[in-house]
Amino acid sequence: MRYLAINLVQEGMRLGKTIFNEQGVVLINTNTELTRAAIDRLELLGYKGLLIEDELSEGIEYQENFVSNEVRFSLAKKLNNALTLKSDKKTLSNEIDNLQSMISELVDDILSKRELNLNLLELKMFDNYTYFHSVNVAIIALAIAYHLKLNKADMLTVGTAALFHDIGKLFIGTEILNKPGKLTDEEFEIMKTHSKKGYDVLSGGNNLSSKITVSVLSHHEHYDGSGYPNGLSGENIILFGRIICIADVYDALTSDRSYRKGCPVLEAIEYVMANSGTLFDPELVKIFTSRVYPYPVGASVLLSNGETGLVIGNSDEVCLRPTLKIISGEETRIVDLINDSEYRSVVITKLIQ
Ligand SMILES: [Fe+2]
Repeated sequence: MRYLAINLVQEGMRLGKTIFNEQGVVLINTNTELTRAAIDRLELLGYKGLLIEDELSEGIEYQENFVSNEVRFSLAKKLNNALTLKSDKKTLSNEIDNLQSMISELVDDILSKRELNLNLLELKMFDNYTYFHSVNVAIIALAIAYHLKLNKADMLTVGTAALFHDIGKLFIGTEILNKPGKLTDEEFEIMKTHSKKGYDVLSGGNNLSSKITVSVLSHHEHYDGSGYPNGLSGENIILFGRIICIADVYDALTSDRSYRKGCPVLEAIEYVMANSGTLFDPELVKIFTSRVYPYPVGASVLLSNGETGLVIGNSDEVCLRPTLKIISGEETRIVDLINDSEYRSVVITKLIQ
């Protein structure tokens, strides 16, 4: 199975994995031959890529993300429902409880795994809803927490706080939230109040622990003290807030906005690395970047010699030099970018996403 950007998917290709709609109903079954109409419809629905099963990808052990797209769907939908009911405090409180139980089930599932595979490319395969950002932040934050070996209660704290990190934005006007282009100083000051507003709404009458609400309050604090609302630095910022900060910035960079396209996964990873120790806790950056393969198995890449390769294997030590199946020529062949002398001066220039 391999990942193919939607514009490269052709009629007649076979789908590698069943696609469900938001209600959990099967849209297209695995192994179905895709028609032009089906591809166009999926693109309209917001799919940026599909998993394809074909001869080129035969035998490739594609590593799915540890949270299925179906779980992401239902979390995003539930969150959407909960947050549109903001005027009704009691219902909101019930919905928050429901979402927390969903996170709790997810944490149980995560803790039962011996390995956790965070496939960042798959997180971007479908993210057509506003609330997918919050769900992705929760997933990335949980992956970091898992590798930090946090206990179940702390995992639940970080997952819940991550899911609700931007709840305060409900109280910021859309003219500021959706403004295309840079905010004025005054507008930015208003925008900055969303962490405190989120803290206030979550503290008021819900069954959430203070660790969760303080983490929401702290998600824009920076490691070097340059963040807001309190300008805290280093370990004075609650650990869960430091984790959410990385997940939030990474996912925001890769998400499309009404006024700009999201940046490629690799650029966002590099941004996180470049800001280690300034915006972000360097230990957490190390965990995040060491657990993510920039070129996951099943992804296609462009090489500096013009060839296209399909990633078939990764090395823990040199994650930028995976093993590839070259698929652009007449014949396919396998290249190991670490040991193949012919490819010593060839680099990957782009992840085709
Ligand atoms: Fe935020």
